[in-house]
Amino acid sequence: MKVLIDCDPGHDDAFAIIVASQFSEIVGVTTVSGNAPLTLTTKNARVVLDLCGSSAPLHSGAARPLVAEPIHAAYIHGESGIDGAILPEPSRLADGTDAAHFIIDTVRATPDLWLVALGPLTNIALALRAAPDIAQRVAGISIMGGGRFGNRTATSEFNIWCDPEAASAVFDSGAKIVMSGLDLTHQLIADPKRIETVRSAHTTLGPLLAGLLEFFGSSYMARHDDFLGAPLHDVCAVLALTHPQLFIWKDAHVVVEIDGTHTRGMTVIDDRHVRDGNTTNVRVLETIDADAAFEIIVDAVHACPSNG
Ligand code: BDR
Ligand code: CA
Repeated sequence: MKVLIDCDPGHDDAFAIIVASQFSEIVGVTTVSGNAPLTLTTKNARVVLDLCGSSAPLHSGAARPLVAEPIHAAYIHGESGIDGAILPEPSRLADGTDAAHFIIDTVRATPDLWLVALGPLTNIALALRAAPDIAQRVAGISIMGGGRFGNRTATSEFNIWCDPEAASAVFDSGAKIVMSGLDLTHQLIADPKRIETVRSAHTTLGPLLAGLLEFFGSSYMARHDDFLGAPLHDVCAVLALTHPQLFIWKDAHVVVEIDGTHTRGMTVIDDRHVRDGNTTNVRVLETIDADAAFEIIVDAVHACPSNG
């Protein structure tokens, strides 16, 4: 399976890229402002591609949302966007700075390509705005975002909340969408026992990645009173494509709230099953076999090349 990953690394983005590098063909990576400013998310993507031995083309993109002011998530990911370990300096620069046109060109040139969206949807919305044909050309868009409750606000998940106008355009684009929302991703927790399996999966990378997970988990445990570690949100959007047997889902009509005083950035999922309802536009993932998913994550870490 061929994937183009749009991301804002981000601890869980990093693990998503590692899993994708082992179980799919990454034809490109694009970066967006989100967990950290664009320069940092791009640097982090360069590092992570090195760690997993990928030479996929990398293009940076939007440095800010379409309408909203840029706001980041240092309270979860640290100032670097990926605090918790001493990371090696990246060996490579990005290959370009126009993510939207890279997405357009790659979708047009690559049959059956899936977009995997792990950050705010700005780059993908810009691509769809410039080239609406890609909504039908792409196999689909697997999105980490939204859900039946929020994390940045009571109703709104960070990726959608950062750029609701972009998210709304993507959900309304007509592309096939698979959605990993918070009610799903909170089932995939990197608890201390699982972190130890990551640590021992690779002599050099294992301790480094375990350090990242410990930092990420400590952010969640400091902010919430009911977490044993961090949810590996973004990994779900990759596994949804590479290991669909792990999931149970339902199809529904989903729109993004862009105007609500208290609900801006909410994904509104229509569960009514009424005969005159809107056509379903999103596959909403509802449950994941978390133990099996974590074994796959550990296998992917184990398969990474030595970073000597
Ligand atoms: C999402 O926001 C970021 O903090 C994570 O990388 C994930 O994509 C979860 O709300
Ligand atoms: Ca992310």
